[in-house]
This record gives sequence, structure tokens and C-alpha cells, in this order.
Amino acid sequence: THTTTDTWQGGLTADLSKILLSEKQIHERVAQLGHTLASEYADKDPLMVGILSGSLLFMADLVRHMNIPLSIDFMAVSSYGDRTTSSGEVRILKDLGSAATGRHIVLVEDIVDSGLTLDYLCDILRTRHPASLEICALLDKHEARKRPLQVRHVGFPCPNEFVVGYGLDYRGHYRNLPYIGVLKPAIYTT
Ligand code: XMP
Ligand code: MG
Repeated sequence: THTTTDTWQGGLTADLSKILLSEKQIHERVAQLGHTLASEYADKDPLMVGILSGSLLFMADLVRHMNIPLSIDFMAVSSYGDRTTSSGEVRILKDLGSAATGRHIVLVEDIVDSGLTLDYLCDILRTRHPASLEICALLDKHEARKRPLQVRHVGFPCPNEFVVGYGLDYRGHYRNLPYIGVLKPAIYTT
């Protein structure tokens, strides 16, 4: 079984108002996404680009379901800091270690919220002339979108609430939760 929830009673879990996606739900959906990507990119040697740090767990699980040649790289961009809404301000803190030109790039992201981060990143990456550029996001908070953005692969739709776990953080915490939950508003309004 993939469920370790029993060891996650109390502790961090006490800060959640509800569990949105269980470990099992995440595992099954990520496996599906991996298989889909593997067949789409079977002969393309894709460059899987994770956006740090939120995509860490998603990337690690996703590529385990892709039995094809591929490379993995990461980018880091400035995020919200301690705030829970987008400033629209995006800065590259860590760039790719490999050339993007001519590569089939899959941007792997934990969540698309306003869409500002990925919209900006896609603009930058397109100037490097990749062979293709697609987005694979675990969660899609579509209600919050401020820019039209084509997200080719989505794990789950996400309600317009602040969620944490499975890579998603609040002030650097909760990334290690094996499932995804809604943070009690009391945690970030105090
Ligand atoms: P935008 O608004 O640019 O934001 O699409 C994407 C980035 O914002 C972070 N984000 C969240 N992080 N819970 C989080 O832990 C959330 O509900 C949430 N909404 C947005 C996330 O880092 C993502 O990369
Ligand atoms: Mg992120």
C-alpha cells in the first residue's frame, strides 16, 4: 500500500482544515500522467524542467512512470515570499544547466494559480527556440487565472484556496506532507 497517512496524524496535519487529495489519489494520477507523457515523448528525449522547489516531489514521482530516454533539469524563480497571492513579479534565481535550443521541453510545476509565473517563464524559454514547450502541472487553480495559459497536462483541478503538501509550501513548511490539504486560514492570517 502507498498510504502512510497513519504516521501523519497530528503534527503538521493539525494545521489543515481538510485533506484535498490523498496519497493514493496523487500516486494514481501521477502514474497516469507519466504514462501519457511517456507515450507522447517516446522518441523525443524530452527535457523535463522542474520549477523549484514546489515541483520536487511531483517530478521525482512523475519520471518514475516514464520509461523512455529523458533529461531532468530545474529552474528556480522568485515566488511569493511569505504572501499567499501573486505579485506578478518573477525573477530567475537559478537558470537551466542545459541548453534549451532544439529540445522538447516539459515544464513541470506544482500548481498554476494566476498563471503569471509560467507565462513569464514560457516567454523566456521561447526565445531560446526549443523544439516544443508544454506545461505539466499537478494542480490547476483555474479560477485564479490572470493570464490565458495553455496547460497541456493537469493532474487535478484545484479550488481557489491555499493548499499545501506534496511539494507545496507555506513559508517553506509542509512540503514534506505526502498528501495535499487546505491550510487553515488561521495559520496565515495571524
Ligand atoms: P502563479 O500565480 O504565478 O503562481 O500561477 C504559481 C506559483 O505560486 C505558488 N502557489 C502556491 N503555493 N499553495 C502553495 O503552496 C497554493 O495554494 C499556491 N498557489 C500558488 C506556487 O509555488 C506556484 O509555483
Ligand atoms: Mg512553485
